[in-house]
Amino acid sequence: VHSMMDDVERVLISTEELKQRIADMGKQISQDYAGKEILMIGVLRGAVIFMADLARAIDIPVAIDFMAVSSYGAGTSSSGVVRILKDLDETVEGKHILVVEDIIDSGLTLNYLLDNIKSRKPASLRMCTLLNKPERRKVNVHIDYNGFTIPDHFVVGYGLDYAEKYRNLPFIGILKPAVYEP
Ligand code: PRP
Ligand code: MN
Ligand code: MG
Repeated sequence: VHSMMDDVERVLISTEELKQRIADMGKQISQDYAGKEILMIGVLRGAVIFMADLARAIDIPVAIDFMAVSSYGAGTSSSGVVRILKDLDETVEGKHILVVEDIIDSGLTLNYLLDNIKSRKPASLRMCTLLNKPERRKVNVHIDYNGFTIPDHFVVGYGLDYAEKYRNLPFIGILKPAVYEP
């Protein structure tokens, strides 16, 4: 029987490491926003799993909403073209906004999103990412909370996909090149 594990070269960040780091991030965010409420904006779909765990590691009130944006194509790199597929249901004005991403790669998605949200006059605007891949940055973006800085490997799991697969792996793994090479 074919298992998702057969497509994984190796585990980069284990379930236990994720759990520990997210607990720490949650504590830090709870301290930084003490006495406030947060509106967490998750970027569909990759951020969903991280966001669910992060929200539960925070002990102040957290409202959640989602945006879906897309760069075209299903390949392994972002095209740089960003469009909104699903906008927020909540209003942003006067709220403390925390944008949650699974990974910052070129930075193009986040750069676009932060500008877009800023124009809606939040009380404050910060961002949080589980993974940061600085080697592939095309635009400079400020990251307020970063889980792990990783080298330029093609990673999947814990929300991150290749062609919509592997999001449900409970760790961050490096995909075997044979999976995405023709
Ligand atoms: C991925 C990832 C980030 C973005 C990062 O999303 O989840 O949202 O790309 O890349 P960037 O820094 O180069 O913009 P993707 O477009 O693959 O959609 P998905 O979250 O639904 O997988
Ligand atoms: Mn994404
Ligand atoms: Mg993707």
